[in-house]
Amino acid sequence: KEIFLKDYKMPEYYFDKVDLNFSLGEEKTFVSSKIVVYPRIEGVSSPLVLDGHDLKLVTIKVNGEELKKEDYNLDSRHLTLSSPPSGTFTLEIVTEIYPQKNTSLEGLYKSSGNFCTQCEAEGFRKITFYQDRPDIMAKYSVRIEADKSLYPVLLSNGNLIEQGELEGGKHYVLWEDPFKKPCYLFALVAGQLESRDDKFVTRSGREVALRIWTPAQDLPKTVHAMYSLKAAMKWDEDVFGLEYDLDLFNIVAVPDFNMGAMENKSLNIFNSKLVLASPETASDADYAAILGVIGHEYFHNWTGNRVTCRDWFQLSLKEGLTVFRDQEFSSDMGSRPVKRIDDVSRLRNYQFPQDAGPMAHPVRPHSYIKMDNFYTVTVYEKGAEVVRMYKTLLGSQGFRKGMDLYFKRHDGQAVTCEEFFAAMRDANEANFHNFLLWYSQAGTPSVKVTSSFNAEAKTYSLKFSQEVPPTPGQQVKEPMFIPVAVGLLDSNGNDIPLTSLYHDGMLESISASGQPVHTVVLQVKKKEEEFVFSNISERPIPSILRGYSAPIRLESDLTDSDLLFLLAHDSDEFNRWEAGQVLARKIMLNLVADFQQSKPLILDAKFVDGIKSMLCDPSLDKEFIAKAITLPGAGEIMDMMEVADPDAVHAVRSFIRKHLASELKAEFLSTVESNRSTEPYVFNHNNMSRRALKNTALAYLASLDDPEITSLALHEYKSATNMTEQFAAMAAIAQNPGKARDDVLADFYSKWENDYLVVNKWFALQAFSDIPGNVENVKKLLNHPAFDMHNPNKDGSGYRFLGEIVVQLDKINPQVASRMVSAFSRWRRYDATRQAAAKEQLEMIMAANGLSENVFEIASKSLAA
Ligand code: ARG
Ligand code: ZN
Repeated sequence: KEIFLKDYKMPEYYFDKVDLNFSLGEEKTFVSSKIVVYPRIEGVSSPLVLDGHDLKLVTIKVNGEELKKEDYNLDSRHLTLSSPPSGTFTLEIVTEIYPQKNTSLEGLYKSSGNFCTQCEAEGFRKITFYQDRPDIMAKYSVRIEADKSLYPVLLSNGNLIEQGELEGGKHYVLWEDPFKKPCYLFALVAGQLESRDDKFVTRSGREVALRIWTPAQDLPKTVHAMYSLKAAMKWDEDVFGLEYDLDLFNIVAVPDFNMGAMENKSLNIFNSKLVLASPETASDADYAAILGVIGHEYFHNWTGNRVTCRDWFQLSLKEGLTVFRDQEFSSDMGSRPVKRIDDVSRLRNYQFPQDAGPMAHPVRPHSYIKMDNFYTVTVYEKGAEVVRMYKTLLGSQGFRKGMDLYFKRHDGQAVTCEEFFAAMRDANEANFHNFLLWYSQAGTPSVKVTSSFNAEAKTYSLKFSQEVPPTPGQQVKEPMFIPVAVGLLDSNGNDIPLTSLYHDGMLESISASGQPVHTVVLQVKKKEEEFVFSNISERPIPSILRGYSAPIRLESDLTDSDLLFLLAHDSDEFNRWEAGQVLARKIMLNLVADFQQSKPLILDAKFVDGIKSMLCDPSLDKEFIAKAITLPGAGEIMDMMEVADPDAVHAVRSFIRKHLASELKAEFLSTVESNRSTEPYVFNHNNMSRRALKNTALAYLASLDDPEITSLALHEYKSATNMTEQFAAMAAIAQNPGKARDDVLADFYSKWENDYLVVNKWFALQAFSDIPGNVENVKKLLNHPAFDMHNPNKDGSGYRFLGEIVVQLDKINPQVASRMVSAFSRWRRYDATRQAAAKEQLEMIMAANGLSENVFEIASKSLAA
């Protein structure tokens, strides 16, 4: 059933207090709830509709009296009381559930013998009958009883109030959460876990106990997670003035988890891969991801938990904002330009294609069939870009004022995206025009800019025109409000101080304070709009969209030599990188056309020189160099083509890589050598930069498929003291089919077969490999003893193969199955053969018996578009 934002209705009843009682068992688990219910309008008695899914109802009582069959109605999704008492009443319900059989990993389920929960978005209805919607906020107490030897640790939200022994080897605990919350933030964990304990003292003096729970053998791998948590707590105080609000903060790592992690109040639950790390088993990228996600979930305590969403259409209210916050946190902990480059690449490689395909939806969707399908790069990453634009427009201080007002107004409430917008606007008395269109219009805006210099008048003009492409259900679009940060470079490569500009026939002063301004944020609001800078005495080179100030596609009239100039001189490091990427994209698209016409491929020598000068520039940050010499991803290039041609893009990308490797072999070799280190692993920017550059150089070299390089890589593999370098060396060798590849893969597996997180990397390397005939290899891997379809961390690829997997997996775990169908969703972008193959699989999937709503939504929308 499709649900629409425009149909939102306030609930007829609210819940005040909820007491839950869990009796955890091996065969069955009993859940008793006692809820204090009150009507929204005193004296009005309308039906009370509770959600419930896969539940066995045992008893139901109102004000202590058991209801008879005729007093309520039960169907497969709801429990309805047709005429509850008027006024406040208590509702008591007992249900029976079977967590050990729950493979969907939502609701209460078992992972490696332990009980755990995942309730967002709509999993609580698999635990008990409830108004499972975020605008129902209540205070919870949770009593858990279970066998003491099997489940020595029993956790839930809030404070531990009581615990004790029971007969028959059982024990119990009582938790109470003083903050009211929606049920999606409820959590329970029970099992054999041990904790790493630490503490954090908030700036107002509250001593918070911090505990990270894992199976005993994994405890040594939680050092980095604890460091990340404390850093996040400190950062949120420093940057936003936000403190933690309870005396205990728990994190639990579980091996089976559908997403990255979950921000349940004071009891965050994580996919183990985002908690556990040691230098030997986790890469720099894993360490960075852990820092970011620990931060993300912690930051949700304010942006998500204290202020939550009115309904699920508002998901980006908490997710866009919290992603923005975790991005800023990671920037402050590492390198800001490098983090920005990573985030923008991610947006381009994943969000742009979604925004241009059948699943395109606004940051705030208008409708959904299954909410789980809308935990997307659009809601998260594009949503974060929308939040970033407020900051770009208001400055750090203005943004902070807006945040302060948001919490002042809405602490303890369930609100909408408009409320966030209004807080930003009102705190700054800003005029945001039609900025709200960013929440309602899907599609990536395309902005064209043309420039002209008038030597006589000493003016420099930038003319913008914008277009928002049609998306499913939205054929006609309005122009959007786009902040474009601009700087102008003089012929020495220095920023020109900007004093004033003409806009709409008015002369506006840029620097109010009298301080020189080097970057100005232009507010592009109309379909076509011109800005004219005055006092410009020589033709400048414009640096447009600095820091990637809006999530758009920009097309400018910059020449190749302008781009090379920006690459060498721009003071905005993001745009410096960007200039190289624009150039690389141009070159790649041209070569793709040559390839398709069977012309010989020739790489411009200037491009090789540009790469070389960066590679050899000691003044540049090494991780920045690594990013700058990395070509745009195949997905990014295909996204820019009329008909996506993966073969051509792959051929061109390999050609350029090989060509660069052979032209710059000496430089790459010396890069590898000079960036070795024998010091113990440290997670900091310097060391990560060094490893990133070394590994990028090694990967280029390996594309040469040269025995000398293979032995170099093997040497790196054997001498590596950390996973970052060991894995990169293996990946380098694995670029080329042959005995060396087979040997190193086998060696790595035998070394790590007992560590499933490392084995997952080994699987992923092979699954994403582009060596010929890889689908066969992957099929073999599915029969590998270490492969387990019940664990969501492993995906596959290849048409028929993928189709079959989707159907099989849908019966086990619909959320992950639907994520996999998304791989087919852009099928119309490909050539006829690929289209037919994908369409056939989509139709096969649609015809499958007992298809989940999750998979149905993606498959049907993909076929319809
Ligand atoms: N709120 C979680 C996070 O972003 C993600 C939960 C996703 N759940 C789901 N069913 N898709 O941190
Ligand atoms: Zn989140």
